[in-house]
Amino acid sequence: MPARVVVLVSGAGSNLQALIDASSDPAYGAHVVAVGADRDAIPALDRAAKADLPSFVLRVEDFEQRTDWDEALTATVAAHEPDLVVLAGFMKLVGTSFLERFGGRTINTHPALLPSFPGMHAVRDALAYGVTVTGCTVFVVDAGVDSGAILAQAAVPVDAADDEATLHERIKGAERELLIDTVGRMARDGWSVDGRKARIP
Ligand code: GRF
Repeated sequence: MPARVVVLVSGAGSNLQALIDASSDPAYGAHVVAVGADRDAIPALDRAAKADLPSFVLRVEDFEQRTDWDEALTATVAAHEPDLVVLAGFMKLVGTSFLERFGGRTINTHPALLPSFPGMHAVRDALAYGVTVTGCTVFVVDAGVDSGAILAQAAVPVDAADDEATLHERIKGAERELLIDTVGRMARDGWSVDGRKARIP
């Protein structure tokens, strides 16, 4: 049985698409079973529909308290019985309920080499700092901002002519490959997290 993966998205969904495409090979070991979003009318939801995947939208602003949203997110994701939850460009921090239920099996992808440049503007911040190498990180989500144990990283050189858009596009290429490889290996071989050390055997 392939590992059941729920993917949470907020935007273009190119990482989601890469996971859907990888899932079509039974040898991959993981299968996307549902897609959740924190906003409507995003290309990622069209990708889910095109792949005939169930999807749901839970907007923070529709809940009185952020904790209510987090509880609804937890219950909705739980209904799909995931082995792994992948945040793929999901622009919200999950909260305590979510982490109590899915901590240790929720992963995120970030367009920088953490712990450098956490937060929403990683690519812009890396360019502004003047680094000549940046990249992407897949990590296990914890209660902090981009602070969880690191599963995998890939480096991407910065070109002198890069702007935020060109650099992010190149990072996203590396990110898709890294995410697909990491999710597949986790599904097939399992993983462990011990403090800051996350390992896929
Ligand atoms: C990725 O670079 C992700 O790391 C960042 O936003 C981008 C999402 O891209 N947080 P997509 O929606 O998967 O195309």
